[in-house]
Amino acid sequence: MKAEESLLVRKIQEGTVIDHIPAGRALDVLKILGLTGKEGYTIAVVMNVPSRKLGRKDIVKVEGRFLSPEEVDAIALIAPTATINIVKGFSVVLKRRVEVPAVVEGLLRCPNPNCVTNSPREPLRPRFELISREPLRFRCSYCGDELSGEDIVKQLVSGHAQKGEGARR
Ligand code: CTP
Ligand code: ZN
Repeated sequence: MKAEESLLVRKIQEGTVIDHIPAGRALDVLKILGLTGKEGYTIAVVMNVPSRKLGRKDIVKVEGRFLSPEEVDAIALIAPTATINIVKGFSVVLKRRVEVPAVVEGLLRCPNPNCVTNSPREPLRPRFELISREPLRFRCSYCGDELSGEDIVKQLVSGHAQKGEGARR
């Protein structure tokens, strides 16, 4: 598997490898990172490669780009099985599995138009609490409205989500 993959895409020298992305999600990960290909980064997107753990997986490699904690949290929300590998001098110097945050502040918006977080005058910063991992569900701390995994993907990938503070644990 490793030899086959290295034939498909070479190792990177320095940057980030997002591995174990659920098959079909690689382009959503690129969207979250704001990568369109026009930024000049060398990027490899590998889709539907065999994985012992996941059956099939996607991989995104970005040469010369490292991720902020907010970006890692956003990736966790749409690709909870992902591992982030930080590569320096062709070696993986840090590997960690993403973690679905228990609390997400600022990154997602509440679907309830009457929620205080959507108040046109003095909106409060949206805040959601994790209520289920499988399937993924978050609940608004203010009005109790819930977001499904699908809602979250839609928000984060459409770019309609709130920019800002991001998530915290
Ligand atoms: N990788 C890369 N460039 C490097 C080093 C690693 O593109 N210089 C990629 C590998 O191709 C792999 C990922 O980063 O997709 C993780 O590398 P490594 O830890 O060596 O692989 P595994 O041991 O297979 O990882 P895991 O145990 O997380 O499955
Ligand atoms: Zn709400």
